[in-house]
Amino acid sequence: MKRVRIGLAGFGTVGGSVYRYISTQAGFLESRSGVRVCLSAIAVRDPGKKRSHGIPLPRSLLVKPEELVARPDVDIVVELMGGCGMARKLVLESLKAGKPVVTANKALLAEHGEEVFTQSNRSGTPIFFEASVAGGIPLIQSLKEGLVANRLQLIYGIVNGTCNYILSSMSKEKLSFEKALAEAQAKGYAEADPSFDIDGIDAAHKAAVVATLASGGCVKFKEVHVEGIRNVSAADIQFAHQLGYEIKLLAIIRGINPKSVEVRVHPTLIPSANHLASIHGVTNSMMVRGDVVGDIEFSGPGAGGPATASAVISDIVQAASSCGRNSSEFNGTTARIRPVGPSVAAIESVVSRYYLRLTVTDRPGVMAQITSVLGRAKIGISSVIQPEGHEGETVPLIFMIHDAPYKSVKLALSAIRKLNCVKAAPIMFRVETFGK
Ligand code: NAP
Ligand code: HSE
Repeated sequence: MKRVRIGLAGFGTVGGSVYRYISTQAGFLESRSGVRVCLSAIAVRDPGKKRSHGIPLPRSLLVKPEELVARPDVDIVVELMGGCGMARKLVLESLKAGKPVVTANKALLAEHGEEVFTQSNRSGTPIFFEASVAGGIPLIQSLKEGLVANRLQLIYGIVNGTCNYILSSMSKEKLSFEKALAEAQAKGYAEADPSFDIDGIDAAHKAAVVATLASGGCVKFKEVHVEGIRNVSAADIQFAHQLGYEIKLLAIIRGINPKSVEVRVHPTLIPSANHLASIHGVTNSMMVRGDVVGDIEFSGPGAGGPATASAVISDIVQAASSCGRNSSEFNGTTARIRPVGPSVAAIESVVSRYYLRLTVTDRPGVMAQITSVLGRAKIGISSVIQPEGHEGETVPLIFMIHDAPYKSVKLALSAIRKLNCVKAAPIMFRVETFGK
């Protein structure tokens, strides 16, 4: 039986769940994996804090995070603190000291991947990050190993459980945005700062990590186009339904090659018949297209303590097999991630279809003014609706727009906003059918 001693940094939603499973399921884990996981030390920020997940903090194991790496009884550092401050320091020091790292921290990998993977390569120490994307779904392992025969061509889907929980609660149960967010937070799905979820940043972090694995080189998070879900109203969800669509926050990665890649995160109208339209709650779902295998779908719980602990524990077992081997023997996939990767294609050049909602004065001639701006920009309209039952000073006007580069749409929207008949900032969402 292989014995591995871990130092756990973080005892929140994820850290607490990891602790619960490795302590209550130890026998099962040993028989299934051949690895005995022993917990040597735990670091938290505030030992006196009341822990809402109800798992008592084992105080005898408490240390400061700075102490974890140097401890002789820690073989693997498990970083579950989040953020890029103390977590970055701990991960880099651990890799430098030759101690494998397991982390769920997509922010760190997306924003400091170049530094982290350079250190991992330099010291020949692996870093495992299954829990950083799509919670309990073994997506990272599949991209690294299961699909190694493939050139990955297209990856898209739902990677933020909190946003999907909010959008599906608004769509199905008619909950308000605020109530749905509060529920997602209470269930342990949201980031410590939930604006990371609702502004699309968390999904963009994950998209950068996936694009890095798919292209083989670090994709710069700052180049990823990101729009969150704050602008998605109950009215838009309703209009989308009338048109046969559902609104989801999607991460889309395509045109993957060593020099460039398209990576974007934004609310997206998808046809109700698309399988992603029926992915509800905290569930994540990703479609991966490889040139050898074709299309594969991955779906499962994308956030929350137990699902994420499942991924972290799988990584601990993987990391255990690298302990005690010298670095040249360990030819982990991390060694194949180049610190500098492809540049992200500018969003201005990305072509897609669009949903446009305008708030306009209810007067004759308004439609002509708007269609003339779109016509001048060579933007084709596929359908227009002015829903009934909105009579008053202003009315909504919904356009579905044919394929157009974002650059043209952006210019046209700015001209439309300046028309006297347009009374609020236009609402625009992209429409994707993924060729179906
Ligand atoms: P959390 O509930 O906020 O827990 C964070 C833990 O880290 C807390 O125990 C906190 O200490 C500790 N911590 C934070 N900063 C620290 C510092 N400077 N020094 C020492 N301890 C520190 O967060 P979480 O939801 O478990 O998420 C942890 C990581 O997993 C994040 O990277 C997150 O993005 C990622 N993740 C989360 C989920 C999820 O569903 N929640 C899923 C996948 C990945 P105190 O307890 O004293 O405050
Ligand atoms: N806040 C993240 C989400 C946690 O809601 O998806 C999982 O990474």
